[in-house]
Amino acid sequence: MANNATILRAKLTKNVELGKEYFVSWFKAKDIVDKIEPGQFVMMESGQYLLRPFSVFGINNDDIGFLYRVVGWGTGFLSKLQIGDEVTIHGPLGKTFVFPKDKKRKIVIVAGGIGVATFPLVAQKAHELGYTVLSLFGARSINDLVAAEELKKYGELQIITDDGSSGRKGFVTELLEEELKKNKQCEIFVCGPTPMLKSVIKVCHSHDVTAQVSFEEFMACGYGVCMSCVIMTTSGKYIRTCVEGPVIKSDLVNA
Ligand SMILES: Cc1cc2nc3c(=O)[nH]c(=O)nc-3n(C[C@H](O)[C@H](O)[C@H](O)COP(=O)(O)OP(=O)(O)OC[C@H]3O[C@@H](n4cnc5c(N)ncnc54)[C@H](O)[C@@H]3O)c2cc1C
Ligand code: FES
Repeated sequence: MANNATILRAKLTKNVELGKEYFVSWFKAKDIVDKIEPGQFVMMESGQYLLRPFSVFGINNDDIGFLYRVVGWGTGFLSKLQIGDEVTIHGPLGKTFVFPKDKKRKIVIVAGGIGVATFPLVAQKAHELGYTVLSLFGARSINDLVAAEELKKYGELQIITDDGSSGRKGFVTELLEEELKKNKQCEIFVCGPTPMLKSVIKVCHSHDVTAQVSFEEFMACGYGVCMSCVIMTTSGKYIRTCVEGPVIKSDLVNA
């Protein structure tokens, strides 16, 4: 195998329902826990032929946690597992967010929807390394603000919702625009649905700032073989988000 990934059978230790549609599933997976870097992902058994990619949301001793919204087959399968059930997990996979050398640069996290799942570990690491962390979290409504409390542990959190049911009404790009008007000496880490990523990249580039963007494209293999996850770069070449990403510098991609 060309990367550092382990393939293992992992037992479910806990399934926590966080509210309508949202779950965190915890598995005993010490060999992956020992290697994982914040921002990486795993490929997870889904109850059918194709595996599904998931960001690592949490680590608790030898257990690894995945936060997800039940939207289809794979997430439905995960949410119904019982304690002690085993699944196959491949990981860790992919590139991480890169922290800047200058510790005075603020880490600005921009999270959209379930894209937030990758950020609690990233925020924790940034905080432990001595960076100031600002998290900007946009979601559809108050019911979708899962993991907000986790982000709050490691720095300032600003919330914005599509319907105004929590925080301001609007889109997370508005919060980012305001932050960039005040301070461009920051490193921006982004994850969320593709339309939101594109809007965030446009805002960053209009301020001459490059962001590190985690793409959540469809992935069938996770190992760079099937090409289901490619995106086009500004030079017209395709790159595989599972291997060259999921975290990719925004100046390499078309917004
Ligand atoms: C690197 C990476 C990390 C991810 N991390 C997480 C995570 O931490 N938590 C999480 O909930 N999900 C995450 N995803 C998405 C996840 O892999 C699944 O695609 C998603 O949870 C739906 O799986 P499913 O089998 O339940 O849905 P499916 O039965 O495959 O699809 C159900 C519906 O959702 C749509 N859909 C499925 N996947 C996507 C997608 N990636 N983008 C847009 N629409 C999609 C389908 O078109 C369909 O309409 C991640 C994806 C990537 C690439
Ligand atoms: S998911 Fe197969 S090449 Fe990226």
